[in-house]
Amino acid sequence: MQILFNLSGKVAVVTGSGSGIGRAISTVFARQGAHVVALDVDEGSAVETVEAIRADGGRADALACDVSDAAQVRTAFEAIDVARHRLDILVNNAGIAHVGNIAETSEEDFDRLYRVNVKGVFLCSQAALPVMRRAGSGVILNLASIAALVGVADRFAYSMSKGAVQAMTKSIAVDYVKQNIRCNCICPARVHTPFVDQFVARHHAGHEKEMMRQLSEYQPMGRMGTAEEVAHLALYLCSDEAAFVTGQAYPIDGGVLNQ
Ligand SMILES: NC(=O)c1ccc[n+]([C@@H]2O[C@H](COP(=O)([O-])OP(=O)(O)OC[C@H]3O[C@@H](n4cnc5c(N)ncnc54)[C@H](O)[C@@H]3O)[C@@H](O)[C@H]2O)c1
Repeated sequence: MQILFNLSGKVAVVTGSGSGIGRAISTVFARQGAHVVALDVDEGSAVETVEAIRADGGRADALACDVSDAAQVRTAFEAIDVARHRLDILVNNAGIAHVGNIAETSEEDFDRLYRVNVKGVFLCSQAALPVMRRAGSGVILNLASIAALVGVADRFAYSMSKGAVQAMTKSIAVDYVKQNIRCNCICPARVHTPFVDQFVARHHAGHEKEMMRQLSEYQPMGRMGTAEEVAHLALYLCSDEAAFVTGQAYPIDGGVLNQ
């Protein structure tokens, strides 16, 4: 029997792997046979992800790294190259949120979102590409958002950053297609992760239940997505089964864009 979406023998680096979607992607990739390198600015959370993977019989290492810091990214990717001698898959998942329209967005907010969500993808991809080129193949997968594709109210800085992620995806895909390196992005609507819980706790204290209902009903399916559902799409896009797919943005949205 052929095993589909087999990642055995591949090394997969997942940024922001200590929580939510990054943790789910790390777990699913390890179950499919990948050796996962779990990167997170919060080292303790990356270690928790790795311990859970190892307890499940998988292989993984944790690395502390702030993706917005060029020196830390260089050090982390050099360490991965020395330890593993290969890098087959990079998932640029680390990201942060901001709520507000343009008038409610300070220069500091704008720069913060840019540093993590945009520059982080740039730095990690730039560090990974030479290793992939040397091997003659590779896959980069970026976490964008439906905010890259349609207007989402009160997400000015966040939309700016995810639009840039989609544009970087297309740029890398076209520049490296002849080197056998693919690059795609995923555009989720609301996914129930600690990202959402923190947002609700911070901005809607005392009305958490009502807010969770509203966030669920935003999707025509009447619920938020799960991190595992996003991880399964990530698995397809990073697997050899998706060998003909590059430069695309994949919504996973419970029907939002179909309205
Ligand atoms: N949850 C959603 O509704 C949703 C929807 C669309 C897109 N996304 C995107 O998916 C990605 C993951 O979201 P999530 O909901 O799992 O978030 P999360 O907050 O649960 O997890 C994000 C992880 O990234 C890490 N991180 C933050 N800044 C970092 C940095 N500078 N360097 C390294 N790691 C850093 C955090 O420590 C955390 O472990 C993000 O890019 C987010 O924008 C999420």
